[in-house]
Amino acid sequence: MSKIIFNDVHKSFDGGLQVLNGVSLSINEEESHIILGQSGCGKSVLLKCLLGIIKIDSGEILVDKISINDEKHSKEYLKKFSILFQGNALFDSMTIIENVIFGANQINKNKSECRKIAEEKLLAVGLERRVFDSYPAEISGGMQKRAALARAIAIEPEILLFDEPTSGLDPITGGVICNLLKDTLKSLKVTALTITHDIKVAEFLSDRVSVLNKGNIVWTGHTQDMETCGNEFVENFHRASNAISNKQR
Ligand SMILES: Nc1ncnc2c1ncn2[C@@H]1O[C@H](COP(=O)(O)OP(=O)(O)O)[C@@H](O)[C@H]1O
Ligand SMILES: [Mg+2]
Repeated sequence: MSKIIFNDVHKSFDGGLQVLNGVSLSINEEESHIILGQSGCGKSVLLKCLLGIIKIDSGEILVDKISINDEKHSKEYLKKFSILFQGNALFDSMTIIENVIFGANQINKNKSECRKIAEEKLLAVGLERRVFDSYPAEISGGMQKRAALARAIAIEPEILLFDEPTSGLDPITGGVICNLLKDTLKSLKVTALTITHDIKVAEFLSDRVSVLNKGNIVWTGHTQDMETCGNEFVENFHRASNAISNKQR
């Protein structure tokens, strides 16, 4: 069953080009779907449209058949989501555990329950108790990413959104975080939507991938079929990405 539906979504900015030019896409319940595209192609804009942060010009976006434009159900709509932002977006002035408690606070639980949930989630993402009272600046980028993930799952979302989950991390830490995201998705039974320009992330984390180019989804399928899918842009993107990552090795 479809969890998220984009139907002919258009978005342009004043004086700018058409960023989304009729995006149609259906994401299944409990699938891990990746939107892959070059930087600047509109991935973050698409995510912001899904969250209602940016208003679409036309078309519709539905989650469990509820429209983003349905004001009466907007609270119910937004409660389904949790997002792991690019760059983590932890609160600098809060300790690691306070950051996660802040997430847990968003579901109606009392103070001691929130603390218990926060501890549980921090341990689940592999952080040790000794860093719970540290501030974000005192721990590594990889640990910050773990803390941000703990905060994201502390609200027990139905849909997890990952915005460029490995950007800003070195390749080894990026690989570790990808593994962690995969394990997390397996244990949680959530629907996941990840946006990335990194084909390795897509290969590792996706059930299906959709490629965004020039404002449209030009292909949806399994990463192993990209190379021979018949779409010139997708095949070139696949070839170029792999050429780069082979060089890095
Ligand atoms: N609020 C905005 N106002 C004007 N242009 C924007 C805005 N947000 C994004 N854009 C433009 O939309 C395009 C897609 O951006 P974005 O979705 O951030 O790309 P990416 O695929 O790298 O996430 C870019 O050309 C960007 O400059
Ligand atoms: Mg982006």
